[in-house]
Amino acid sequence: MCGIVAVIGSREAAPLLLEGLRQLEYRGYDSAGLATVQAPLEAPASGDQGAPGQLTCLRAEGKLVNLTARFDAVGAPGHCGIGHTRWATHGKPEERNAHPHLDGSGQVAVVQNGIIENYRSLREQLQAEGVVFRSDTDTEVIPHLLARQLASLQDQGRVASGSLLLEAVQLVLPQLQGAYALAVVWAAVPGGLVVARRQAPLLIGLGEGEFLCASDTPALAGFTRTILPLEDGEVALLTPLGIELYNGAGVRQQRNPSLLTGTEHVADKRSFRHFMHKEIHEQSETAALWVARHLPELGSDTGGGNPAGSSLVALPLDEAVFEGVERIQILACGTSRHAALVGAYLLEQLAGIPASVFYASEFRYAPPPLGPHTLTIGVTQSGETADTLAALLMEQERRLLVADPAYAPKLLGITNRPESSLGRLVPHILDIGAGIEVGVAATKTFLAQLLAFYGLALAFAERRGGGVHGPAKLRSLVAALRLLPAQLQQLVIDHDQRCADLAHLFTDTQDVIFLGRGINYPIALEGALKLKEISYIHAEGYPAGEMKHGPIALLDARVPVVSIAMPGLVFEKVLSNAQEAKARDAQLIGVAPQGPDTDLFDTLLPVPEIDELLSPLLTVIPMQLLSYHIAAHRGLDVDQPRNLAKSVTVE
Ligand code: AGP
Repeated sequence: MCGIVAVIGSREAAPLLLEGLRQLEYRGYDSAGLATVQAPLEAPASGDQGAPGQLTCLRAEGKLVNLTARFDAVGAPGHCGIGHTRWATHGKPEERNAHPHLDGSGQVAVVQNGIIENYRSLREQLQAEGVVFRSDTDTEVIPHLLARQLASLQDQGRVASGSLLLEAVQLVLPQLQGAYALAVVWAAVPGGLVVARRQAPLLIGLGEGEFLCASDTPALAGFTRTILPLEDGEVALLTPLGIELYNGAGVRQQRNPSLLTGTEHVADKRSFRHFMHKEIHEQSETAALWVARHLPELGSDTGGGNPAGSSLVALPLDEAVFEGVERIQILACGTSRHAALVGAYLLEQLAGIPASVFYASEFRYAPPPLGPHTLTIGVTQSGETADTLAALLMEQERRLLVADPAYAPKLLGITNRPESSLGRLVPHILDIGAGIEVGVAATKTFLAQLLAFYGLALAFAERRGGGVHGPAKLRSLVAALRLLPAQLQQLVIDHDQRCADLAHLFTDTQDVIFLGRGINYPIALEGALKLKEISYIHAEGYPAGEMKHGPIALLDARVPVVSIAMPGLVFEKVLSNAQEAKARDAQLIGVAPQGPDTDLFDTLLPVPEIDELLSPLLTVIPMQLLSYHIAAHRGLDVDQPRNLAKSVTVE
C-alpha cells in the first residue's frame, strides 16, 4: 500500500519523482506529495558537510494529476527529494494527511509506506513534550522523533551531514514497531537522503549520475535496469557519489546490484480506454506464453503419447517440491484466493492430494494444527501482500521449531513478481509470467494463476501414476490446454460487445448474485468480487446449492442472477438451482454452452463445451467483461476504483 520514491543526483528531482510516482500510482491514489531540498549555490555535491539547503514540500489530495498541477504552478527546486502516493490507513484522504510529513520546524521530511503500530504511544509521549501534530497519520511521529534526535546529536557538537542523518535514523528506527519502508530528507543536508525498510519492499536503482529508490521496480525501470533490493532491516544513505548500506545491527554491507529483467515499465493502454479492458484482451497471449513455456512439444508417439523420460508439463521447480508431499495448504487473499480454490479442487480431484485454502489474514492468527509432509503454497500476484507474506513467515517459523524432519517447512510461492518480497522469502517460486498488470482489478494475473495451478496439479498427478483419473485423462487435458489460447481469443472477442450491450440493463441494479458449483464455485466468487470492486454494486458469490438455505430470500425481479452451468458432474444440479431462482422472478443470466438445456436463461453468455475440469479458464471471461462494461457504462474509474490499491502491503 502506498508507494514511495526518492532520488538524488545531477538532475532536478521533482520531475523524476513525479514520473516515479506515476508508475507507482497503482499502489494508492488518495493523495500524493513530494519534498525536495535545494542546495545553496556554493554547496559541494557530497553527502557530508554541505551548507544548509531549502526544503520545499508540495502535497495534494486526490490523484497524482493534482500534485503535478501544483508542481507546475509553484515548482519544487533541488536535486534531492522524496515522493509518496497514498492509500489511506490512518487519517482520511485529505491534504493534511498526505505525505511527506514534516517536523515542527519544517526541516525534516518523511515519506512512509506501511504502518507504525505503536504510533499512539509515541504521539502521546511527543505531545506531552509539547510537540504539535498537524495530521492524523501514524507517520507524523517519525519526523518529530528525527528532529529531536538530530537536535540532540547537534547539541553534542556533531555537524550536520548525511552521516548524521543516517545515525539519527538508525537511532529512531528501534522505537518504531510495525512493517514499513521510509525515506527521509533534511534541509540541513541537501546532498544526502536516507531510506530504510522493515518488512515492506524497497529497492535502490543505480542510474547514470543519480541514485533512486522506490517501493517497486516500475518506478525505477524508466531510469535504470541496475537495482539493489534492500534486505529486511537495512538502512541506506544515498548521496550523489554513492550508497552506504547498513544492516539492522549497523554493520556496513557490500552487495552487488542485479539487473532488472522483463518489462517492468508500465505499458500504455494501446487503443483501449482502460488498462483492465486491455488486460482482459491480453489473456489469450498469457495462455499462449504459458503453453509455450510449460507444455513441451511431444516427440514421436511411443504408444503412450508421452515419450519415455519426458514430462507432460515442464515446470521450473526442484524435484524436492514434489517429493513426499501428503497434504497441501494454500494461503492467499482476494482474487489470488479464488485461484487457490480452483487450485485446491484440482490438487484433490485430479492429483488426489488433500488440499485446503486459507485466507492469509485468518491463517496468521488461527493456523490449523501442524501436519507432517505438508507443502505450503503462498499465492500473490504482487508478491507483496502483507498478510500472505506474514502467514508464510509464521508457518515457516513454527515448523522450524519442530525437531521431527517430517514437519520441516516446504514453501512454494506462486507470483507474477519473482523479484518481490515473496521471491526473497520462499525458496521455490513459480513465476506466472503474465507481464505487468496495471488495472487494480486482477484479470490476466488470475488466469495466469489458474494456469500455474493446472501445471502444478498435472505435475503432481503425473508423478503419482496419473492421479485420480489416470494418465490418459492427463494427456487429454494437456491436449485441450493447447487449444486454450485460440479459444480465449475468440471468447473475448465474442463477449466484448455482448457484455457491453448487457451492461445497459444494470443501470439501476443494486444487488447481483453469482452462482456456481464445484470447480466453478470460485469463479462465481471471482465474478462477484470483480463486480463489487469496480462497479460498487453489491454482489455475492454462492455455491448454487446453498441458495435455498437462506440467500434465496434476497431474490426478486430487481436482483439479476448470474449462473455458471458447465456440462459435467453438477450441470443438472446447477440448472435446477437456476430454475429455483427463476421461480422467484430473478433475471437469469447463464454462463453455459448454447443448447436446449440452457434455454431457461433470460440471457445466455455462451461458453464452448470443454472438460469440466478446465472450464474455469473459460467461464471467467464473461465475468470479467460483464463487470468491466457495467463499470465503464457507469462512467467509473475502472483502473483505480475508490478505496483500493493494487498491492496491499499493510495488514
Ligand atoms: C483483485 O482484483 C483484487 N484487487 C484483490 O483482491 C487482490 O487479489 C488481493 O489484494 C491480493 O493481491 P495479491 O495477489 O497481490 O496478493
